[in-house]
Amino acid sequence: MSRGKFIVFEGIDGSGKTTVIKSVFSSLINLGCRIELTREPTDNRIGQLIRDFIKGDGEYELDERVIAALFAADRLDHILRPGGIKEKLGAGVNVICDRFWLSSCAYQTGVFPMEYILELNKGSMNLVKPDLTIYLSVDVSVALSRVDARGEEREHYESRDRLEKISRNYEKAICLRKESDNIVIVDASREEAAILDEVTGLIKNIIS
Ligand code: TYD
Repeated sequence: MSRGKFIVFEGIDGSGKTTVIKSVFSSLINLGCRIELTREPTDNRIGQLIRDFIKGDGEYELDERVIAALFAADRLDHILRPGGIKEKLGAGVNVICDRFWLSSCAYQTGVFPMEYILELNKGSMNLVKPDLTIYLSVDVSVALSRVDARGEEREHYESRDRLEKISRNYEKAICLRKESDNIVIVDASREEAAILDEVTGLIKNIIS
């Protein structure tokens, strides 16, 4: 049996990532693909702890350096746990993951240099490699207007300055990992149908 393909989606908050992933996933399922969807931070214990921090309603404050280590630990657990990414890929299941180590490079660089964030993720990098990474590229202004249109309170990472910095970090990380993670940049400021068409095509090429 051939190994499943590992497909990662990346993008700043407000890039439309969640909507795109949901639509693409259901159309791939309708086409009869053997594919599963997962995300980071995960819904497991370490991921829950991180989500509490992001929402700002955790029991205690955590230093950003600790958060960077927790993201790396959550990822390793995501790969290695029974029923995790490694097991699924080994069983021939294709896996779509909403965010992976490129998110750590983009969001956690600053408390540590990017090179150190990459070091923190070496354990994961030695275990899996994305067959395709789709980066949904969008201007910070567009992203912020989408976040505001949701009508929810902005989360920890969603101020303009912060998103601009995250966006720049993504660009740097993409340069470093473009070949190794097979990163494709998709213009996510277009109409949804055009984005979905392109993304579905990219994934179909990889999994067929
Ligand atoms: P979530 O509510 O799932 O947002 P989104 O739908 O945009 O993915 O929260 C995930 C947040 O976690 C998001 O703001 C990015 C952040 N994050 C990091 O800071 N580092 C990481 O390594 C990962 C995976 C996510």
